Amino acid sequence: APHKLLLLPGDGIGPEVMGEVKRLIDWLNAQGIASFETETGLVGGCAYDADKVAITDATVAKAKAADAVLLGAVGGPKWDPVPFDVRPEAGLLRLRKDLELFANLRPAICYPALADSSSLKREIVEGLDIMIVRELTGGVYFGEPKEITDLGGGKKRAVDTQVYETYEIERIAAVAFDLARKRGNKVTSMEKRNVMKSGLLWNEVVTRVHAEKYKDVKLEHQLADSGGMQLVRNPKQFDVIVTDNLFGDVLSDIAAMLTGSLGMLPSASLGATDAKTGKRKALYEPVHGSAPDIAGKGLANPLAMLASFGMALRYSFDMGALADTIEKAIANVLEKGIRTGDIAAAGAKGVSTSQMGEAVLKEVQAL
Ligand code: NAI
Ligand code: MG
Repeated sequence: APHKLLLLPGDGIGPEVMGEVKRLIDWLNAQGIASFETETGLVGGCAYDADKVAITDATVAKAKAADAVLLGAVGGPKWDPVPFDVRPEAGLLRLRKDLELFANLRPAICYPALADSSSLKREIVEGLDIMIVRELTGGVYFGEPKEITDLGGGKKRAVDTQVYETYEIERIAAVAFDLARKRGNKVTSMEKRNVMKSGLLWNEVVTRVHAEKYKDVKLEHQLADSGGMQLVRNPKQFDVIVTDNLFGDVLSDIAAMLTGSLGMLPSASLGATDAKTGKRKALYEPVHGSAPDIAGKGLANPLAMLASFGMALRYSFDMGALADTIEKAIANVLEKGIRTGDIAAAGAKGVSTSQMGEAVLKEVQAL
């Protein structure tokens, strides 16, 4: 049976970069290399324009029924005035919640050809290939109580609560260890056990999961603050980093800057594996937003979107070899000096979105 993919291009440059993934999928189907059945839906501002919601129930149902969801980007100034609960981001949040996507995977790869655009020196980042696994549905962003209390006299008290239960830590740890086995076989767990109870439990559970099922993987623990320092001082010491929602948010943005360009970074959000079908819900999207400043001009860099499709091949469809080919094609295109404007040398005119997509397809065909 063909693999079912739901494409949600979204707003701004989303449809432009998704078009390049579609080009690749059509070619893979035509060659008989893979068999994908794609369907397209609305999310974000475009969904609001059509239906006055950020995503319809029908589209959420399609996302649940699909083997994987590919999302472009949502949002833009046009929808700044819309009500909070139907703003474009609400579509993304609903998908994460309804599909229970608890594991956010953010690879930070520094292609040698782009090492000079990193915030760090070339020798520190060249060839960097790390994976940050962030817990996405728990922790301080969702814990109760969460409130601002008026204390009178112009004073207020704000409360956010960090909550983690054993099962939440067990499942994210398992994702990290499974990934490490397919990569550099090392996991670094980051928390603040010295000052946080949730850090203490995090450390205890990760240590137990490791001892029970993953003794072949190397496990290290670092306090999240010094981990952040190490990420900038010597990032190549890491393979997989696993951490909570808040620390993961911050650490993955730091890691993004090590690689040099927003238009290059893919991500995956994974849910639990269904005991009956063995399948897991998953959503793949570039880290960047809808880039309203360049939308509609054919200037967007499609590489993050294409790399996100590569992650789908690897983690949803067990097509690791094809994912390798796509990653190699991207590296080759960069080695040849083909650049969109965002990664071109200052003053140089970049190629268009479709020229970049064609160049990647040509490399895939040659590999
Ligand atoms: P952004 O990522 O859209 O853009 C930041 C800068 O990077 C812009 O100068 C943009 O032109 C450039 N850029 C981003 N992706 C690029 C690509 N593929 N190729 C070339 N250049 C690229 O972030 P910004 O400007 O903060 O947000 C714009 C809109 O996107 C907002 O409405 C925001 O809410 C939304 N957004 C959506 C996200 C999502 O859908 N997951 C994530 C982040 C922002
Ligand atoms: Mg962030």
